[in-house]
Amino acid sequence: MFVAIKDLKQHADQEISLRGWLYGKRSGGKIVFLLVRDGTGICQCVVDASQADLFKTASDLGQESSLSLSGNVRIDERAPGGAEITVTGLDVIQNVADYPISRKAHGVEFLMQHRHLWFRSPRQAALLRIRHTIIQSARGYFDDAGFTLIDTPILSPGAAEGAGTLFKVDYFGDEVYLAQTGQLYLESAAMALGKVYCFGPTFRAEKSKTRRHLAEFWMIEPEIAFADLDTLLHHAEGLVCRIVSDLLKKHRDDLATLGRNVAALEKIAPPFHRLSYTDAVDLLHSDKIQGWIEDQLARDQAQLDEALKQVADLEQQRAAAKKGWQQEKLDQQIREVRETIRELEMDLANRREHRGDAKRFEWGHDFGADEEAIISRQFEKPVFVTEYPKHVKAFYMKTNPARADTVLNVDMLAPEGYGEVIGGSVREDRLDALLERMKEDGMPTAPYEWYLDLRRYGSVPHGGFGLGIERTIAWLCGLRHIRETIPFPRMMGKIYP
Ligand code: 4AD
Ligand code: MG
Repeated sequence: MFVAIKDLKQHADQEISLRGWLYGKRSGGKIVFLLVRDGTGICQCVVDASQADLFKTASDLGQESSLSLSGNVRIDERAPGGAEITVTGLDVIQNVADYPISRKAHGVEFLMQHRHLWFRSPRQAALLRIRHTIIQSARGYFDDAGFTLIDTPILSPGAAEGAGTLFKVDYFGDEVYLAQTGQLYLESAAMALGKVYCFGPTFRAEKSKTRRHLAEFWMIEPEIAFADLDTLLHHAEGLVCRIVSDLLKKHRDDLATLGRNVAALEKIAPPFHRLSYTDAVDLLHSDKIQGWIEDQLARDQAQLDEALKQVADLEQQRAAAKKGWQQEKLDQQIREVRETIRELEMDLANRREHRGDAKRFEWGHDFGADEEAIISRQFEKPVFVTEYPKHVKAFYMKTNPARADTVLNVDMLAPEGYGEVIGGSVREDRLDALLERMKEDGMPTAPYEWYLDLRRYGSVPHGGFGLGIERTIAWLCGLRHIRETIPFPRMMGKIYP
């Protein structure tokens, strides 16, 4: 009987079989320890020299060899996973001699080129599992709240989020585009069903290489008939809290593998903070923020000094190390700390250069990553920033009746400097106002006649938002870069594998 490694503990003292891949191997003279992984866990399997053939086969196995083995389950709390196998039989499916990813540190470029194999590392596997749960929770939230899932098309005749980020596709000789959002189509379904959502891949030809932009990302978008801004905030808060609570319930081990500070996530509970764009600009201009920026620079410098000291210590130890494995381990640690130092130096130089930007920020511009980071770092919970200037936002957003140069929109900024994770708005439901805005933006009306029909036949106030799955994962997992949050990232200059 084949048993999954996660279930081994239920088979104490029984003879079982398992299948998987060799993650690692240690030899201790008359014993070989095989670390076998099967996708559900890692298990230590012990082969001793008294069985000469078995011992030789096990000793010759290379990393990531595929195999099936049988043996006795011994409960041992010190073993990873709490159980160990005493091996009695071993079938090699494929012996591998030259697996390209060693357990030594590789640069991220190399690992990205080997993304198809990199999945097998515990950290990447943890991220894939967490992604699964986050998607399941997000859909669960809307399913439980009575929303209907609507699949919106990926090929689309027009822009929705600005013409600057469209991917062109040749559609039987016509130029069409990959969807930037499902929203416009979703609005028509909301007029039929009331509460709907879509979930799918969306595409933006962002010509910038940043830590938070992908060319292909997944977005979950609800659309609600008769919704006002408060309704949107209510659902955004409910959605995020559901995701965080499921994550903390199901993935403590994976979060530990990632080294995530869980305490920061435990603080995510209603109510989230809320401020208008105009108040956010005042905040950026305040003395409080200037003081905070200077403190932050001092904190970063202290962190950098600490890392420099650490690397000097490690180099001293390296010079004194005699054994090969000691040298290898220290080399790896030195590489890792040097990588951190490089990043800290870059961040610090960037922050120094931009230390005055917050004070100089002018009302009417969109917030960039730097402003979002400063604002979001003032709060331990996500913050809703509402009512942005009309001309930095999309054509479909409803004019704010209380201040006509702003719109009824919301961006949710995640804490710890992560910035925008959700963007949404109340929609302009008046035909004349929408046409006027499209004219201002120089948009053709022909591809949108169907969309305008929604304002001709039973138009009602409505709205929705989109949550980016990858930015959510980056935040919740505490990753600096978005590229590890999606199985095969597509970014400018990156399409392989
Ligand atoms: O703010 P955005 O552009 O909003 C929309 O697309 C609306 N149509 C949503 C709606 O109201 N139904 O994008 C929403 C979210 C962002 O907050 C961000 O999390 C994510 O999608 N996002 C990206 N994620 C990764 N890479 C990119 N290039 C992204 N662009 C947006
Ligand atoms: Mg946005």
